[in-house]
Amino acid sequence: MKHLAEFTLLVLGIVLSVSTCSVNKNNSRLINEDVIDRKIDSLLTLMTLKEKVGQMNLYNGFWDVTGPVPKGVSSNLKYEHLKKGYVGAMLNVRGVEHVREIQRIAVEESRLGIPLLFGFDVIHGYKTLSPIPLAESASWDLDAIQNSARIAAAEASAAGINWTFAPMIDISRDPRWGRVMEGGGEDVYLGSKIAVARVKGFQGDDLKDRNTIAATAKHFAAYGFAEAGRDYNTANIDNVTLLNTVLPPFKAAVDNDVKTIMNGFNTINGVPVTASKYLQRDILKDGWDFNGFVVSDWASINEIIFWGHAKDKNEAAKIASIAGSDMDMEGYVYIQELTHLVKEGTVSESIVDDAVKRILRVKYELGLFDDPYRYCNEKNEKEIIGKKSHHEAVLDMAKKSIVLLKNDNNLLPLKKEGQKIALIGELAGDKNSALGSWRLASDDNTAVSVLEGMQAYNGNELTYKKGVDVFLGRTTFIHELNINTTDSSGIDEAVELAKSSDVVVMVLGEHGFQSGEARSRTSLQLPGLQQELLEAVYKVNKNIVLVLQNGRPLVLEWAVENIPTILEAWQLGTQSGNAIAQVLYGDYNPSGKLPMTFPRNEGQIPIYYNHVNTGRASSREGNVFWSHYSDKENTPLYPFGHGLSYTKFKYSNLSIVQNSSSTDSKVKVSVDVSNIGDYNGKEVVQLYIRDLVASVTRPVKELKGFELIALQKGETKTITFELTDNELGFFNNNGDFIVEKGDFQIFVGGSSITSLQDQFTL
Ligand code: NOJ
Repeated sequence: MKHLAEFTLLVLGIVLSVSTCSVNKNNSRLINEDVIDRKIDSLLTLMTLKEKVGQMNLYNGFWDVTGPVPKGVSSNLKYEHLKKGYVGAMLNVRGVEHVREIQRIAVEESRLGIPLLFGFDVIHGYKTLSPIPLAESASWDLDAIQNSARIAAAEASAAGINWTFAPMIDISRDPRWGRVMEGGGEDVYLGSKIAVARVKGFQGDDLKDRNTIAATAKHFAAYGFAEAGRDYNTANIDNVTLLNTVLPPFKAAVDNDVKTIMNGFNTINGVPVTASKYLQRDILKDGWDFNGFVVSDWASINEIIFWGHAKDKNEAAKIASIAGSDMDMEGYVYIQELTHLVKEGTVSESIVDDAVKRILRVKYELGLFDDPYRYCNEKNEKEIIGKKSHHEAVLDMAKKSIVLLKNDNNLLPLKKEGQKIALIGELAGDKNSALGSWRLASDDNTAVSVLEGMQAYNGNELTYKKGVDVFLGRTTFIHELNINTTDSSGIDEAVELAKSSDVVVMVLGEHGFQSGEARSRTSLQLPGLQQELLEAVYKVNKNIVLVLQNGRPLVLEWAVENIPTILEAWQLGTQSGNAIAQVLYGDYNPSGKLPMTFPRNEGQIPIYYNHVNTGRASSREGNVFWSHYSDKENTPLYPFGHGLSYTKFKYSNLSIVQNSSSTDSKVKVSVDVSNIGDYNGKEVVQLYIRDLVASVTRPVKELKGFELIALQKGETKTITFELTDNELGFFNNNGDFIVEKGDFQIFVGGSSITSLQDQFTL
């Protein structure tokens, strides 16, 4: 057996290395692809049907758990299947020692010795954590985001991982849904750019490099539209929204060579996406020529049964495989049912062959056939994970992710000496929450707290009081978090401290384990007694800087009305407290912009900036018959794209130049941006369009360009955007991408609410 395995690897290795000689890069890529295809075909002829089905089988490892554990499955069965070559990949096996041992079984003990993929949720870092993805998205800094994924890949690959289940690129308009923390926010344009940056960061230029890993664009599709924001719920969306809002980030990821796509737990319009041939074959594989593979989400093939779309595992296996789900994650459906289904002729063997080829191709591209232990190097593991330069990079990313929501009276930046500062809030002293919920490989309590970050500045008198206990009991990935709603005993102490302080920094918000998978909330207020604490402190000292830590937009109407300064600091990862302190003290001038709208209250949800106009967008004769709420404005608390700086920017000289002869750039828009404040700073210049009349109603504003620029005090830069058919067109109800002639408005500024505008006719 071992001989056959070695022989297979040897032959594949020789052919592969011979093929990569001199020739130029493109040619060599084509030759390579051809060689890989031929090798895969010949390997396929060696495989039994059961071994092929085995490649489509993904098992959870023996340590971490990231989903409901199936009943009655023993570790013995998994080991037995590994030895028989009935497993194509493992998830949640990490660390060189573990990966090597499991890979050894696959390579040395199975008949053909086909190496395994090792998948892991490397969402915002492996051990050294960068900010949660929603926070990173607030940076609008694509290079930094790409670099952050690069570091995550470097650490994960050093721990034996060769495949990440990221990036999550679900557009979502519903902050009740806990997984908004994991994505790029509400906007399709920004979301698509971020999707590409993350894919490039994980996969690098060459997947064979030892520090790159295969990425997964997930969850295909519309998981972010879970009804009522409740996780795992159905999504009902129209075709225009699907084509224009949900799918483009996936298309962008596929165009940038993402190796795998994960489907999801939701249905779309009555069909579980895992069972959707329309999505997985018609659109993804046939329409977009995706040549990687589709992995199911954790037991999502199984869940087709619970959705009432298949009567049993047998039918679920049939439906999912025909629909184009290539690999079954911890569902035991394919491995139990598919061989039989093929033998009886219900599922064609070509479906299995196609799936297996896709999976093997990724293994080849990762270089696993050259060296299955490619990612198993203890020295790398020791040297790369937690490197100093990684800490520096995540600190940089954390600072870039912070959004200054409000700074009345210029309370920030804080003076570096001579002030009495009160630091209040359980989260201020906490070292765990800022790690977020996806941090399986990171040790608990390893984030720098705000208290520690601020203690690094010693010119002021700093005193810390927790105020109230908010989070009770154990906080873990798989357990519900308990919140204190009754014991307010610490408030008085905090109030006393605030009375005698010049400035009060209050760190309030959600715990990292209150957002993420299965963490939907109906109330987006500050949890527990934090609002009471805030109001009590405000009564005695109005000089409050509120630092928010949260994984989603919160409802903060009272705070925004009363508290002069608010800093959105999300969950910023390992270096959280240092990043926050450097921004508070003005050593870093914030430039983040919100990637999601903040609602005034939960009743406004879903609320998003690129909504359509309605037929009754305003009151015509002062009467009641227009599209509004009778108890609250339509406008959000903070709009998409909002974010301030310690300096001020002025926009002027908006100009539009059309070029009707060019097929590429149809319209050039330029604007002058000046730094008219007292600090050097950075600004995200944003361009929005509105297609005024169209065959399908278009949004009142759509982001179609942005640029992050740095401006010294007094400096002015001219920024130019080019609009092509890609930006001016849209998908209609027939699924055609069309560009319609007519009038377009252009808006340019530092948020989606911007007054500088002009118009052109196409
Ligand atoms: C379920 C989640 O939905 C998915 O995103 C994740 O990758 C898998 N569990 C594996 O942990």
